[in-house]
Amino acid sequence: MQVKLLVDKQGPTISKYIYGQFAEHLGRCIYEGVWVGTDSDIPNENGIRKDVVNALKEIQIPVVRWPGGCFADEYHWKDGIGPIENRSTIVNTHWGGVTENNHFGTHEFFELVRQLDCEAYINGNVGSGTVQEMQEWVEYMTMNGESPMANLRRQNGQEEAWKVEFFGVGNESWGCGGNMRPEYYADLYRRYQTYVRKYGEHNIYKIACGASVDDYNWTEVLMKNAARFMDGISLHHYSIPTRVWEDKGDAINFPEEQWYSVLEHAQYMDELITKHSTIMDKYDPEKRVGLIVDEWGAWYNVEPGTNPGFLYQQNTIRDAMLAAITLNIFHKHADRVHMANIAQMVNVLQAMLLTEGEKMIKTPTYHVFDLYKHHQDAELVDSYGDESNHVTYTASKKDGKLTVSLCNYDLTETREITLSREEGEFEIVEAEYITADAMNAHNTFEEPEAVAKKEFTSYIVEKGTLKVTLPPMSVASIVTKEN
Ligand code: AHR
Repeated sequence: MQVKLLVDKQGPTISKYIYGQFAEHLGRCIYEGVWVGTDSDIPNENGIRKDVVNALKEIQIPVVRWPGGCFADEYHWKDGIGPIENRSTIVNTHWGGVTENNHFGTHEFFELVRQLDCEAYINGNVGSGTVQEMQEWVEYMTMNGESPMANLRRQNGQEEAWKVEFFGVGNESWGCGGNMRPEYYADLYRRYQTYVRKYGEHNIYKIACGASVDDYNWTEVLMKNAARFMDGISLHHYSIPTRVWEDKGDAINFPEEQWYSVLEHAQYMDELITKHSTIMDKYDPEKRVGLIVDEWGAWYNVEPGTNPGFLYQQNTIRDAMLAAITLNIFHKHADRVHMANIAQMVNVLQAMLLTEGEKMIKTPTYHVFDLYKHHQDAELVDSYGDESNHVTYTASKKDGKLTVSLCNYDLTETREITLSREEGEFEIVEAEYITADAMNAHNTFEEPEAVAKKEFTSYIVEKGTLKVTLPPMSVASIVTKEN
């Protein structure tokens, strides 16, 4: 395969927010995965696991979306402030019917954001919350001067207002967030977002609830009626090997055909973004409004013996392929996709990290986010080259470096890829990859490094070309010096 990189041509910036995370009050994501409480024996800083924070910092998490998901439209933020021992409980009806003690609330979330050194994406409650409740939450978080909510925040120990970079007005309002019709939600969006006020210097980026998968009518109605009131509109698409909700296929014990079927379902993201963007172009030709893919990833049957409402699944080299394929698609649409949030950060769906008591492992998906971190806020490099034979790639440049990431998701065949550029030589700075011998290779608490990042050496630099030999089931990132 031949790829010509047009390194000198100007391209759009790949927003770092494409590497965003999603952390919901679901199963063991927040509780156990992030929050263990200050009395825990698990090493923590102010109740938040140190191992998880350290691992996520390594991959430069840019933003975390919280508190849901479906949970967001049942979440009443005042339950989660004030002394922990006085907080009221609620039932998490969507996710296992467990009792939520509200120990992780607004202050704890911003403590997580502080420790990760990232931005906050808050998802507000439209489904079962009032306009006043949403307005007061925004005031509580972002008002610095004298006000009832700012004073309440101070009373609860936080003097300075926090920065809310992104705010979602409802989640899946067509489904778990209220079963609304687009016309009704568009009007509600216009009303609720009015009260997502700017209390400080900083503009809050407002996100309207967008479509489920291929509901193009939803995008049409929202854009037609509310585009001028939004900065972004969301899109959710999960990849399911069987496409059957009742039996999605297993995360580890899957037949070969499900390797390809789930990756094909992931590639559908390209068509979805293209078609939703085309509708958006009609109402927003300047591409001011971002398409925010704030839920994406693989969704399998839960691990045997675990609570079906907790969505705990293992993560294999197949998921690494899925992540690389999807990130490459987001890069290609960098002019419209302003943020994406993989579902979810820890212990739920296509997670970065899995925990068991005091143990924590990094998943193959984590390693792809690590390999791809060079692309955050880099300029997309255009290219010629056909992405056939189960190979996909992306390239970007930043800070005097050119990074090419390549994925060979064929199960058996090694691929030869020759990269060339208009001028200059490839000068390798760093090259790393992940691969495996079995299609269901994964990390366990007993063998945490079964799939891990290694140095990549299967390339030859020769007269303005870079010849790469990419083994089956592998993802590589090659960083070269820009000249
Ligand atoms: O990520 C799990 C759930 O999937 C989210 O809560 C919901 O928004 C979606 O249906």
